[in-house]
Amino acid sequence: KGAIWLDCDPGHDDATAIMLGLHCRNVRLLGVSTVHGNASAENTNNNAARCLYAFAAAEHIRVCPGATKPLIRPERHDPEIHGLDGLGGVEGLPRADRPEVQARLRANGDAIRAIEGIAHAAKNLYKDGIGRKLIIVSTGPMTNIALFVSVYPELLHCIQEIVFMGGGVGIGNRSASAEFNILCDPEAAQIVLDVPIKKTMIPLNVTHTAIVTPAIHHRLLNPNIPLSADGSLPPAATPLRHMLSTLIHFFTESYKSTFGFTNGPPLHDALTIAYVAMPELFTCRRFRVDVELSGMHTAGETVVDVWNYRSCDDSWGRHGKNCLVAERLDVEGFFNFFLDCVERCDKV
Ligand code: BDR
Ligand code: CA
Repeated sequence: KGAIWLDCDPGHDDATAIMLGLHCRNVRLLGVSTVHGNASAENTNNNAARCLYAFAAAEHIRVCPGATKPLIRPERHDPEIHGLDGLGGVEGLPRADRPEVQARLRANGDAIRAIEGIAHAAKNLYKDGIGRKLIIVSTGPMTNIALFVSVYPELLHCIQEIVFMGGGVGIGNRSASAEFNILCDPEAAQIVLDVPIKKTMIPLNVTHTAIVTPAIHHRLLNPNIPLSADGSLPPAATPLRHMLSTLIHFFTESYKSTFGFTNGPPLHDALTIAYVAMPELFTCRRFRVDVELSGMHTAGETVVDVWNYRSCDDSWGRHGKNCLVAERLDVEGFFNFFLDCVERCDKV
């Protein structure tokens, strides 16, 4: 099993990534940290704890609070897509002040120190041959990861890979050219792209193919009822499915009104966990990727060198390929994986 640490900003699709991390077969989720992004750091921290409780996480899995703002730039949130608190419209989640949710918040320690601790532990596991090195999964702005790699460079060798949802190859979503996670903290993203370990980027080009269509939404609500001719959705088979359906419903409406997506929302962040668990669902290629840090119109754009202008044999330097970029997804395989995890979560 791949041992992962999830750094996130829930966020509707982050919540689905948490569910997958907890319940898919090939991944062991060691812990969660949160970062400013879709909502304030306080909200994303609470939301992650609410999700851990709602998705029946084991008691020892806690949420560690991380950076409350980007390294340099002013904070930005995305209430238009995720609601004011980051998980707008989701029914069935416990309130943040409930004791069972509070119990999921780590009493002390922050994200950076928590990742340090887990990286040390992973090193020991690896030495004994029992476990594998740690995979860091990022589904929000990369401020925490940039701080971790900057403060603890001696622990980089404990990290097998950094997998992140972010960026686009020639497209953006929160500016004409930048994707939200990278746009929030471009400097942090460049710091991460510069570290000499394996990185995999899951860009918008691929996440925009993982659309929760009405047919998928139907299977999510109740896989045993056949699709109806008039397209009406069945009642939810379980409380968990109801909760996830309200999450998808809110996300569907956001994507319709903001981006004109008429067939459903893209489940961006869920793809990171799918990539770790089932890399065979993805086709990827290595490229040089950098972040535009000063462009007047393009700050936060991921510049993916598809024609190899900046490539040479050295994969680790400022020149040369530095990132595996997902280019294609087996969409049907992904949703089978997703719905299988929902079923497993439902059984806990
Ligand atoms: C990314 O930004 C947020 O809206 C989502 O949670 C995802 O991580 C997509 O651009
Ligand atoms: Ca996110």
